[in-house]
Amino acid sequence: MKELVERAEEVAKRAYAPYSNYRVGAVVRTTDGREFEGANVENAAYPLTQCAEKTAIGAAASAGYRPGDLAAVAISASPCGGCRQWLYEWRVPAVSYRREDGSIATVSPDELLPDSWNLPG
Ligand code: THU
Repeated sequence: MKELVERAEEVAKRAYAPYSNYRVGAVVRTTDGREFEGANVENAAYPLTQCAEKTAIGAAASAGYRPGDLAAVAISASPCGGCRQWLYEWRVPAVSYRREDGSIATVSPDELLPDSWNLPG
C-alpha cells in the first residue's frame, strides 16, 4: 500500500487549499482495477470545504461504482471523523494512510470506525 499512499501524496499537490495551506490527496482503487483521484477543495465559507476522500469517492460514485466496489483507498493523511463515516459506508476493506510519524497504517472498516452507527432496520 506504500505505492498507493505515495500516489495520494502526489495528488495532494493539486489540492485547492488557499485557506489552510494543508493539502490532502486520496486515491480510490476499485475491485475491477480502476482508480480515481481526489484532493481537498476549500471554500471561503470554510465549512463548505470538501475533503480529499469525498472528492475521490465522489468521482468513483459518479462513474457508477457503489459500496462494496472499492478494494482500497489510500490517503496522504489520517482521515477525519466525517471521512471515516464515508469510508465505512463504502465498505472499503483496506484504508491506508500516512501517520504523522511517517509510518503507513492499513486498517479495516471496523478499525476505522469501531461500533459504528448504522441505519436502523
Ligand atoms: N482534510 C481532508 O481533505 N481530509 C481529511 O480527512 C482531513 C482534512 C482537509 C480539509 C481542509 O481543506 C484541510 O484538510 C484542513 O483541515
